[in-house]
Amino acid sequence: MTSSAPDAPEVYPPSAEFAATANAGPELQAEADRDRLAFWDAQARRLDWATPWTEVLDWSDAPVAKWFVGGRLNVAFNCIDRHVLAGNGDRVAIHFEGEPGDSRDITYSELLAEVSRAANTFTDLGLVAGDRVAIYMPMIPEAIVTMLACARLGLTHSVVFAGFSATALRQRIDDAQAKLVVTVDGQWRRGQAAPLKPAVDEALAGETGDPGASSVQNVMIVKRTGADVDITDGRDLWWHDTVAKASAEHQAQPFDAEHPLFILYTSGTTGKPKGIIHTSGGYLTQASYTHHNVFDHKPGRDVYWCTADIGWVTGHSYIVYGPLSNGVTQVVYEGTPNSPDEHRHFQIIEKYGVTIYYTAPTLVRTFMKWGRGIPDAHDLSSIRLLGSVGEPINPEAWRWFRDVIGGGGVPIVDTWWQTETGAIMISPLPGITAAKPGSAMAPLPGISAKIVDDDAHELGAGGSGYLVLDQPWPSMLRGIWGDMDRYRDTYWSRYAEEGWYFAGDGAKYDEDGALWVLGRVDDVMNVSGHRISTSEVESALVGHPAIAEAAVVGAADETTGQGIVAFVILCEGMENTGELLVSELRTQVSTEISPIAKPRQITVVPELPKTRSGKIMRRLLRDVAEGRDLGDTSTLVDPKVFDAIRGH
Ligand code: WTA
Repeated sequence: MTSSAPDAPEVYPPSAEFAATANAGPELQAEADRDRLAFWDAQARRLDWATPWTEVLDWSDAPVAKWFVGGRLNVAFNCIDRHVLAGNGDRVAIHFEGEPGDSRDITYSELLAEVSRAANTFTDLGLVAGDRVAIYMPMIPEAIVTMLACARLGLTHSVVFAGFSATALRQRIDDAQAKLVVTVDGQWRRGQAAPLKPAVDEALAGETGDPGASSVQNVMIVKRTGADVDITDGRDLWWHDTVAKASAEHQAQPFDAEHPLFILYTSGTTGKPKGIIHTSGGYLTQASYTHHNVFDHKPGRDVYWCTADIGWVTGHSYIVYGPLSNGVTQVVYEGTPNSPDEHRHFQIIEKYGVTIYYTAPTLVRTFMKWGRGIPDAHDLSSIRLLGSVGEPINPEAWRWFRDVIGGGGVPIVDTWWQTETGAIMISPLPGITAAKPGSAMAPLPGISAKIVDDDAHELGAGGSGYLVLDQPWPSMLRGIWGDMDRYRDTYWSRYAEEGWYFAGDGAKYDEDGALWVLGRVDDVMNVSGHRISTSEVESALVGHPAIAEAAVVGAADETTGQGIVAFVILCEGMENTGELLVSELRTQVSTEISPIAKPRQITVVPELPKTRSGKIMRRLLRDVAEGRDLGDTSTLVDPKVFDAIRGH
């Protein structure tokens, strides 16, 4: 069946064969409906605990939850040691595929040895449970080893995407007061060795306009590309001189279920990123439960591949913690999908016999653009389940994904969740849900969500409004690092009386009650599945001496979901140098934030449309950016400003 078939079915139920062996059957929902907390109690027992809990949920300090109160466990022990102890030490945990073509298999026993060495080294550096460690690394096994070594020692890691700039890194190091940074000499990107360590040096030297001592005591460097690096004596250490020589014996100690496991920064509606805090027991319970049921993962049989980067939450929950807790065998790929050419992902699927492939809609649309001749040149018949995350997947891409990559017959799980939710919340269950292309379908068993209007009225079939989570869940965020007021304000003030979590997404139910996530309702853009706030980009733009004011909107983009479009006003007396200015501004955003935040289009305008109360009317700018007719402009101070904007 092709996507253009006029009789393409509305719903895609799983095959009888898939349903017969699926991990999740209808009883899962029935159990959760019977007693939600007893259900989570049972899910938590999938893990190994050193001390059992006395209470499943303590919500008395809402909106700060305590799950599995009094329970103690070691997250790394659950992800590694217990598999080795169960006799699966020789199972491959990671099939690593480097961008230049090097590859390496790492078994659970080897992973245990490597994580133990790193844990011993970090201990020798004087780090103790509760200290923060910044991880600024590409997708290489040592990045995963570092995360697990931190988990093992109760060190709270903060992974900073290796595509972020020195400025962004410094901001995150300072906010968390990290004592150690783990990085690499350089990373492979599109066939080139790109240096990374200089960005750490720049961040720590404070040459980025934010001088002053940093909290960092040591920098650990993994040699990846062989690039020359400057070494600061007494601060910088090579991994191969320290970790590689340390003892491979390490006894993991248990930590409280609420011990902070990691901080992960994400964009909010203001310029300052939020350090989302996740803890241990509840987080691992839900990451593990969802990985097992949503991906129907069968340890020892499946070869799983999640194409995310550990710099994002998907990498945390569905490369590191969820999959490894379930004893996965997974592919970890370092590079981009078109290095050395567009066949790369399909060659990897073929080489390892990948059975579960979890990726983002933007990549599916890119594959579509490259044409089906590329995947068709490969044997992809090992694939038995596909997953999507990061943004709504349009039905056309959904059908193409299923037909071309999935061979026409496999389930697709469209998983809705957020950095803040820690794990998947809304998704089909592959063995029971008759999925609709483009719909995330329904909350998972144990999860409760509603679609409501401004007045907190719950909407039914056909209704469209705001997505809220009306019951606490185990992997929920526990706060924003250093700013609990912002935590309450951002997520819990909108429906304070009801005590609901405001997700920031619009959603609707169709006539059959299937849930469709429609996208952000706040000033957060979604570019290739990356969250970028409009004000973050605006403040980078006004950092340029020529710019007085900037307004940024996300405009629909065929491939990336949204593209960043900026409107800027020049300072008095500044000249519009055209292309030169635009390229300077793009560089400015790149160095302030990251290349992923570079505007697709920058237009110099004489004025910005503002309401009488002085708010920039982004909705109207989006209309302009998307080439639509303007709606109601009556609230503008000067509706004529649009003629001026359009004229440019
Ligand atoms: C969007 C990524 C529609 C949504 C795990 C959410 C989605 C934001 C989906 C979180 C999906 C994620 N369908 N929209 N399946 N998955 N989103 O924090 O707007 O990087 O609020 O977490 O991505 O992005 P984040």
